[in-house]
Amino acid sequence: MNTVAALSKEFRSIFNTSKTPRAFFAPGRINLIGEHTDYNGGHVFPAAISYGTYALGLKRDDQKIRFYSMNFPDIGMIECELADLTFDQSHNWANYPKGMLYLLKEAGQQILHGADILFYGNIPNGAGLSSSASIELATGVLINELFELRMEPISLIKLGQKVENAYIGVNSGIMDQFAIGMGKKDHAILLNCQTLDYKYAPFTLNEHVMIIMNTNKQRTLAGSKYNERRIECEKALSDLQTTLSISSLGQLTTEEFETHRHLIQNKVNQKRAKHAVYENIRTLKALEKLQQGDLTAFGILMNESHLSLRDDYEVTGLELDTIVQTAWEQKGVLGARMTGAGFGGCAIAIVEKEAVEDFKKNVNTIYQHTVGYEASFYTAAIGDGAKEI
Ligand code: GLA
Repeated sequence: MNTVAALSKEFRSIFNTSKTPRAFFAPGRINLIGEHTDYNGGHVFPAAISYGTYALGLKRDDQKIRFYSMNFPDIGMIECELADLTFDQSHNWANYPKGMLYLLKEAGQQILHGADILFYGNIPNGAGLSSSASIELATGVLINELFELRMEPISLIKLGQKVENAYIGVNSGIMDQFAIGMGKKDHAILLNCQTLDYKYAPFTLNEHVMIIMNTNKQRTLAGSKYNERRIECEKALSDLQTTLSISSLGQLTTEEFETHRHLIQNKVNQKRAKHAVYENIRTLKALEKLQQGDLTAFGILMNESHLSLRDDYEVTGLELDTIVQTAWEQKGVLGARMTGAGFGGCAIAIVEKEAVEDFKKNVNTIYQHTVGYEASFYTAAIGDGAKEI
């Protein structure tokens, strides 16, 4: 039985119905390069992965919304009324789909009936592969289709970001929702986060593969220093604006930054801004190198990105640094870096196919020795964005 047929069967049993639900899938994402640049008006270079969230749903005749996640059977069924979709701590994971519904209604969308929705995700939680944005977009495409709202993907993407910002309270940028909403099989997306212009770049690694390395150090964005970094960058920008007429750090070249960095009063904020500016430029170079088929140069840019996130942005930590630095020392590795927000979660590495088994074994041994527990490794395909399946 395939996944959808199996989930459909679960749906019928959990919601006690004989009807067949409609099924949707939203991926998770990795970011190849361009970290902490989205909310700084720079570029990012993410790709949707084959791990993600399944959402199956049916409309109801009344006003009730019922959510069930097969990942959290202990939490059980979560019920609410369309008229009251406000954030509720006790609703745990279900605040993400609830937030999406809340904001769709607030945006004036006609959702006049309730629904039963089943979720199943195979993205590891808290691994920095955007499981929350994946639930948001899975809910978005499902509601869009069930209620024939005819919303464009970009509107659902923006609403997903608003769920994080205004409903959950994490001041995150647009990258995750954009990658998940607009992903394309075997392609990465170069996105200008200032204008939302984007282009797809074929992501082919030939005799290499992309390995996702999970530090198994969980991080939650709300509890992390994510919002603090954002404020530090805003302060740096406002210092620069005393002389420069720019609206984001992403508008600066490295030369312009070096000429004006003295304007940033606080030394720490200066380092944060330096990362944002240099990382944005590195991302544009990385696109060029990938298009030229120069994976060696692409890998070097990944390594530089990690160093900048470690030393200037300070969002790595023992686990990510150990796993990435160990990866650099292995045979057949072109580049490795943390991916996502940092503070734990996952890193990625481009590894020669032949060397993958030794790579995993060696990295895991050293990682476990240093950190005290094991890492996990995944090979993900690059897949499509959120859609009905
Ligand atoms: C998280 C956020 C994104 C982005 C990354 C860092 O994934 O949700 O918006 O800021 O961190 O690049």
